[in-house]
Amino acid sequence: MRINRTLAAISIGFLLLGCNPKDKTIKIGLLMDTLQTERWQHDRDAFVKRCEELGAKVLVQVANGNDATMNSQAENLLTQGVSALVVIPHNGTASATIVEAAHKANVKVIAYDRLIMNSDLDLYVSIDAVGVGARQAEYLVKRMPKGNYVIIEGAPTDNNAALLRQGQMQVLQPYIDKGDIKIVGDQWAKDWLPVEALKIMENTLTRVGNKVDAVLSSNDGMAGGAIQALAEQKLAGKVLVTGQDADLAACQRIAEGTQTMTIYKSLTEEAYKAAEMAVAMAKGEPLTEKTSMVPNGKKDVPSILLVPMSVDKDNMMATIIADGFQKKDEVYKTLAAVNPEAAESKEAIESKVTEPVKK
Ligand code: BGC
Repeated sequence: MRINRTLAAISIGFLLLGCNPKDKTIKIGLLMDTLQTERWQHDRDAFVKRCEELGAKVLVQVANGNDATMNSQAENLLTQGVSALVVIPHNGTASATIVEAAHKANVKVIAYDRLIMNSDLDLYVSIDAVGVGARQAEYLVKRMPKGNYVIIEGAPTDNNAALLRQGQMQVLQPYIDKGDIKIVGDQWAKDWLPVEALKIMENTLTRVGNKVDAVLSSNDGMAGGAIQALAEQKLAGKVLVTGQDADLAACQRIAEGTQTMTIYKSLTEEAYKAAEMAVAMAKGEPLTEKTSMVPNGKKDVPSILLVPMSVDKDNMMATIIADGFQKKDEVYKTLAAVNPEAAESKEAIESKVTEPVKK
């Protein structure tokens, strides 16, 4: 009787924790900082799809920018018996504790897109962020080799923001040293928030009397904020503005002419790669993929880094749209209302598109 009761308690415990001892399905934990920025929804969907194709189940948790929440979500996933953890950290330094906790439970950790610093991380899957920054700056200096630039960097808590800065400065520094490019504003935006970029841009425009030629915005969301501030001064479309992510709203602004470019990153490829690696790790298979090494302060982390690409209105059809990343009708939906002539001439570009451009 006592044994029966104990057994019953154990099975109830398993049911509560979602671990049916007979269920051999591999479980992967996906810890996400946020779903606020459009891209992360795409990452989540592609990651879950690929894991399921490979026979694994994904348990997703979103921390909404809160480090303590992410830590307790990690503990919770470990208790639920995940065999691998994939983490998109809010704070690359604070999340080192997640790696420690996972390793104590014999679970390997992959940092997805954003590096986890000072930890014994097992793998990093991302898109070359230094390359993203360099491409943004290269695009601007080609078109505006002299002028007043505003730089809006991402979250200081995200290592990607620092890597972007590194790539941007590699390109800009010689122009700054020559005195051709003058940096009239240079700030980091908490949590990559568009509203922070709006404020930074409004203050900068006031301070320099609207004398701005180019805005080096590190992502699309913040480009949206900066463009709102430019529009308030009737400058939208007159100032070059960069971005990153190929968000729908950014692609629409590129079509309309208020944003100049974005960086298109194949999120499907990134998510699929991470899913494949996570499932292999969960099965205890060795890593066979070719990796490079990225230092995180504690070790050189084996890393898979994919290649980003610059997109503007001229190659949007042949890249983002031809790949099916954004839908043509959605991207050009707003154009006809803003600029009917441009909407008509876009029909001509469309007819030229046959197949996706190789990256
Ligand atoms: C990602 C960007 C994204 C930003 C804000 C970065 O770590 O690489 O693609 O725009 O976070 O979410």
